[in-house]
Amino acid sequence: MCGIVGYIGEKEANDILISGLEKLEYRGYDSAGVAVISNSAININKKKGRVEIVKSAAKLSGTIGISHTRWSTHGAPSDRNAHPFTDQSGQFAVVHNGIIENYLELKEELRNEGVQFSSDTDSEVIVHLVAKNYQGNLQEAVLKTIKRLQGAYAFCVIKADSPEIIGARNGSPLVIGLGKKENFFASDVSAIIEHTREVIYLNDFQIARITKELVEVRNFHGEEQPLDVREVNWTLEKAQKQGYKHFMLKEIFEQPDVIRETLKVPIHLSKNFSRIIVVACGTASYASLVGKYLIEEIAKIPVIYEIASEFRYKENLLNQHDLVVVISQSGETADTLAAVRLAKEKGAKTVGIVNVVDSTIAREVDERIYTRAGPEIGVASTKAFISQLIIMYKLAFHLAGKEFNSGEIEPKIKEVLSKHEEIKRLAQKYYLYQNFLYIGRNRNFPLALEGALKLKEISYIHAEAYPAGELKHGPLALVSEEMPTLAICPKDSVYAKTFSNIEEIKAREGKVITIATEGDQDIRKVSNDVIYIPKVEEIFYPLLCTIPLQLFAYYIAELKGHDPDHPRSLAKSVTVE
Ligand code: AGP
Repeated sequence: MCGIVGYIGEKEANDILISGLEKLEYRGYDSAGVAVISNSAININKKKGRVEIVKSAAKLSGTIGISHTRWSTHGAPSDRNAHPFTDQSGQFAVVHNGIIENYLELKEELRNEGVQFSSDTDSEVIVHLVAKNYQGNLQEAVLKTIKRLQGAYAFCVIKADSPEIIGARNGSPLVIGLGKKENFFASDVSAIIEHTREVIYLNDFQIARITKELVEVRNFHGEEQPLDVREVNWTLEKAQKQGYKHFMLKEIFEQPDVIRETLKVPIHLSKNFSRIIVVACGTASYASLVGKYLIEEIAKIPVIYEIASEFRYKENLLNQHDLVVVISQSGETADTLAAVRLAKEKGAKTVGIVNVVDSTIAREVDERIYTRAGPEIGVASTKAFISQLIIMYKLAFHLAGKEFNSGEIEPKIKEVLSKHEEIKRLAQKYYLYQNFLYIGRNRNFPLALEGALKLKEISYIHAEAYPAGELKHGPLALVSEEMPTLAICPKDSVYAKTFSNIEEIKAREGKVITIATEGDQDIRKVSNDVIYIPKVEEIFYPLLCTIPLQLFAYYIAELKGHDPDHPRSLAKSVTVE
């Protein structure tokens, strides 16, 4: 996702536009730019890198402008791919947040009409279409343009000789800020809260025209809509978290949107390899372990699972027939990057499943598959993990030559998220324990690993994950009233076996919290507490089980007074060995 700001009024726009971007950098930060109207011309300053780079450049003079901080989806982070974009005449400029899914077809059409593109992005098609459709009324030109666009967008457009800004929203947020002889557009209120607390949240399929005196809102048919003015009573910090207490909680609740976006990612991987080796660190490695189970079960292809910090120093018998798949949210993790370099040295083909576009790993692998989780600010990975799982499902079905029918996932994830109060109560019951066991079998075992890591890294409580069948080989000795177990036991092919393991724990006075399938009354008889998740096709339970594990860890950390966004001793990206 990206951040957008627009200003029209009597003050110098440049500083207002830049300071607004600084509040939106949590939405994206790989390049930034600003466009300001001066003497019927549009001046632009845009650069790869953080907002501060644009801020340090010469100020643009003028009282009308738009600005943008980018999270790349199409086109690597670079000066040329930074927003704003202008049409060929330089008379129009646009900033855009979202994905124009039919941009290739539109780009072809415009190119055939002689349009020269200056970037590799999807967003640039918007400004060329507006210029093409302009016949004297900017708002009309935008309404005509919108009819051609498919995908999610929030964008703002200016014209050099026109004292107005047009904004449109379909799927990505856009807010109007109301001032005295000035008005604003922004991706969210944090960018404008220092100037006004009177806002209008545009809805999907709405367009707005603002001047320094006037605000009009219309639907996409051009029919005027009532102005729904709201009073914002958030602090700036809360505004950036959109009302959530921590970025981690906001990112947990963003997961349905992330799933929807990541499901659209195309997978084109060729199948000419003899072995698949999955390599990653931490949470990303648990996503890769789920991937191992999925690929072996769905595509019947053997997969070797490796932890990157081990992989880089052990004998791997790598050769040119191997496919090495690495997963990394940041794309900068030193051990994972070293694994890529080692694999390439041995002639293996490398694929990177990465969240940060144009990150080092993304640039060094032979093929990259971008997850569309957007910037993940919380150190504890949540939405990136779920997007990695989605890509592993897509990869498994792709390698099996089968259709991945994901229809039921997003609504079911929302259903599990709606149980957050219940999970919070559970956290209140268990947050004082000093040790936990997490158990699961088959494709639920990697989830036990991820759940235990979440608890460890943000609550600092010791938590160990085991394959449920391993308990009797030692860990059962740990079980006591003082060591609760979180058991992942949905109604799947290993349900009965996991059920027995839970009974083993109960027989030794152990307390058990079970993640179980709705309607399963038997599980209640052997559990102290149950978190029910909706029934889904068995293969999809790992996705649904993820949510309670994240929320349980988050609420426990909060109850213990820790800051889940900045856990002690940890960093968001481990760029050292
Ligand atoms: C997970 O919550 C941690 N932040 C950590 O384990 C992380 O997953 C690991 O360091 C890998 O990071 P990457 O995905 O950026 O490579």
